[in-house]
Amino acid sequence: MSEKVFVTQKIPEAGLEILRRELGAYDISPSDGVLTRDKILAAVKGREAVLCLLTDRIDAELLDAADGCRIFANMAVGFDNIDVAAATKRGVLATNTPGVLTDATSDFAWALLFSAARRIVEADAYNRAGKFKHWGPLLFLGADITGRTLGLVGAGRIGAAVALKSRGFGMKVLYADDRPNAEIEREVGARRTDLATLLAESDFVSLHTPLLPETRHFIGEKELRSMKKTAVLVNTSRGPVIDERALVRALREGWIAAAGLDVYEDEPRMAAGLADLPNAVLAPHIASATHWTRSRMAEMAATSIVQALQGRRPDNLVNPEAWRS
Ligand code: GLV
Repeated sequence: MSEKVFVTQKIPEAGLEILRRELGAYDISPSDGVLTRDKILAAVKGREAVLCLLTDRIDAELLDAADGCRIFANMAVGFDNIDVAAATKRGVLATNTPGVLTDATSDFAWALLFSAARRIVEADAYNRAGKFKHWGPLLFLGADITGRTLGLVGAGRIGAAVALKSRGFGMKVLYADDRPNAEIEREVGARRTDLATLLAESDFVSLHTPLLPETRHFIGEKELRSMKKTAVLVNTSRGPVIDERALVRALREGWIAAAGLDVYEDEPRMAAGLADLPNAVLAPHIASATHWTRSRMAEMAATSIVQALQGRRPDNLVNPEAWRS
C-alpha cells in the first residue's frame, strides 16, 4: 500500500524524522537521482502530499496525475519548477523554504566571486599538474576586490545578505531592484540604480533575482557587452537569467574577465564550450549545500506537509490564494 506522503529524492534525515514522528510513515523514491517523468507521474498518484525538489517539474500534467494531493512542498527557496497558477487553480498548496538558506547562498556567491576574481580553481589545477616551478611576478594575476564596486541585480533576502557581507571589503555597492532596500542603503551605503548603470559601473555583478518570464535572459549579449572588460559575473540565482551561449562568447572573446556560476540554463547540461573556459568557475548548483542549511530546508518542507495534512495553514505558502481553512 502506498503512504499518503511521497518524497521525490533522498533528503536530510532531519526532514524525514519530522514526517515519521508527526505522520507515521512516508514513501521515498528508491532511486538516488531525479525520477524520470514516467516514474514521478506514477509515484504521485493517490498521494495527499509530495515533498519535491527543484529538479521536479510540477506542471499541470503532474498536478492532474496527483489528483487529490493537497500540497507540494518544494525543498528550495526558488519555485520556478512549479506551475503555481496551475496549482492554485486546482486548490493545491505550494510551499518553499525561504530564509534558512540566505547565509549559505550569499556566502557561496562570495566564494564564487573570490574564486573567479583570484583564479583559485585555475591555479589549483596548475599546481596539481606539477606546473608550479617557481614564484613569478606575472603568475595568475587577477582582480582586486577590496574597495571595488559590487553590483547586485536583485536585493531581496540573498542579494541584501551579499551586500552586507561586503562591509569587510570596503566596497561601493550598487543595486538594481524594483523595490528599495533601506537596510543595505543604511548599512553599506548601497545606491539603487538602473540595470544599465549598474552593469557599466560594477567590477563585480552578482545575480539575485528569481526566474520569472521577465528575468529570463535578463543578462544577454547587449548586457554582457555593456559590462567592464575586467568585470566578474556571479550567478547563484537561476541559470536562465543569463543567456548562457552569449556568456560563453563573452568569456571567450574577453567582453568580461571571468564568471562564477552555480546554475545553468539547462541543468545539468552546460552550454557548448563553457566547460573549456579557464575563466569560468563552474559549481554544480550547491550554493545552499551546507549540512546545517540543507537540514533546515528539509525540516521546513516536511513541516509544511505536516501543517497542511493537519488542516493548518503552512507557514511558507507561495500561493496563499489556494488556502481554504
Ligand atoms: C536553490 O537553488 C533554491 O532555490 O533553494
